[in-house]
Amino acid sequence: MSEEVDQGRRKLLTAVTAMTGAVGVGFAATPFLASWKPSARAKALGAPVELDVSKLEAGAMLQVEWRGKPVWVIRRTPEMLESLKAVVPNLADPGSDGSKQPEYAKNESRAAKPEYLVVLGVCTHLGCAPMSRFAKVDAEMGADWQGGFYCPCHGSKFDLAGRVYKNVPAPTNLEIPPYSFVDDNRILVGVDQARAA
Ligand code: FES
Repeated sequence: MSEEVDQGRRKLLTAVTAMTGAVGVGFAATPFLASWKPSARAKALGAPVELDVSKLEAGAMLQVEWRGKPVWVIRRTPEMLESLKAVVPNLADPGSDGSKQPEYAKNESRAAKPEYLVVLGVCTHLGCAPMSRFAKVDAEMGADWQGGFYCPCHGSKFDLAGRVYKNVPAPTNLEIPPYSFVDDNRILVGVDQARAA
């Protein structure tokens, strides 16, 4: 008799547990799915960013935000481009072999078009924001300085192609994001050169 009661209770408990489980899954699934649905802001942060460089003067730089990170565009002068050769002996990775960039930017100027450097403004050491120090003569930066970017957090130095100097904490060159030229005056950050057309 007590055996029958126990069996009955066991069945009842099993049924209740199964129902609770099913309801639990129902409640748990909603927030889980919601967290996977990208918000409008997330979509905006991941979307390509188009910028007009028609008014960007030679030697100047502008900044846009892409995926929550600063992207710099520098319109380099012939003199700035010339400095990329002179600085090579001071660099840790002049060929960008251990650094991150699209294939079309794995060259001396690290760019699809040498005149324009498009680079993430994020130090490859611990993520601080480097500062532009474009002047070639800069007592604070030392005799080997050719102009570039300086990260004040721990003293990393980068040239005018974002290539890292030797003997500084940053391990690699500044990262080059995917980008493409829509026409002579417009750059699309976030879409690779080859896929743009
Ligand atoms: S974060 Fe730039 S040198 Fe450390």
